[in-house]
Amino acid sequence: MGPTILVFDSGLGGLTVLREIVRARPDARYVYVADDVFFPYGHHSEDEIVDRVVPLMGDMIAAHAPDLVVIACNTMSVSVMAHLRAAYSVPLVGTVPAIKPACAASKTKRVSVLGTKATVKREYTQALIRDHAQSCTVTLVGSPNLASLAEAALGGEIISDDDILDEIAPCFVPALDGGALRTDAVVLACTHYPLLLDRLVKLAPWPVTWIDPAPAIARRVVDLLGRASLLADDGGAEMLFTSGRRHALAEALMPFFGGRVPA
Ligand code: DGL
Repeated sequence: MGPTILVFDSGLGGLTVLREIVRARPDARYVYVADDVFFPYGHHSEDEIVDRVVPLMGDMIAAHAPDLVVIACNTMSVSVMAHLRAAYSVPLVGTVPAIKPACAASKTKRVSVLGTKATVKREYTQALIRDHAQSCTVTLVGSPNLASLAEAALGGEIISDDDILDEIAPCFVPALDGGALRTDAVVLACTHYPLLLDRLVKLAPWPVTWIDPAPAIARRVVDLLGRASLLADDGGAEMLFTSGRRHALAEALMPFFGGRVPA
């Protein structure tokens, strides 16, 4: 039997991370937990998130005995990771804004970080910029609604181009003198946003490199747990919502993420 990996997000955004981890460790057993009761995390203060997540994580560890936990949410990771590491001994992998790879990828050294309002405000994110932005100019863009729009789009609602464009437009900083030094890399600093990647690419005022941290998270999981045995079967997956609701969409999606549809 492969290891048990608990993947935790506020909603369906963590599926963009789960997808990469499943590819790297198809033999693991996955428990995906969405804290939909508290969604959107981006609208909560740091203290509210700490008070919510620390005890909830304790309950989840007791219920599922994971070998490793992936916090597939930037807002949670930059708010509560240090508290979780202090409280629990299970290996934890967080998802934090990929500022270092974005600055390395940028040729114009003009990078934007698109995250929730909470993520861009946190000291953790400011420290990442101080430590890793090197010679890059970084524009922080706190999006109030994009996570909810992504969640709604995945649920089948029609989301207008204008609604998406309103959220992403501040990422695109033109060159002051009309020259070439405009934004050329945007960090997807919320795990919900890669769900909309095709729309983001289409609506961008000019082409940029979109940086999705999910492959790096999957590599970190393999660093900690090792590679899958070639002979192992798929471990299966289950998806739980803290509201306790049964989500028809989740049941339809899980087979694509290595899971089985519950009987
Ligand atoms: N998926 C979460 C993140 O990566 C944000 C969504 C929310 O606001 O709950 O930040």
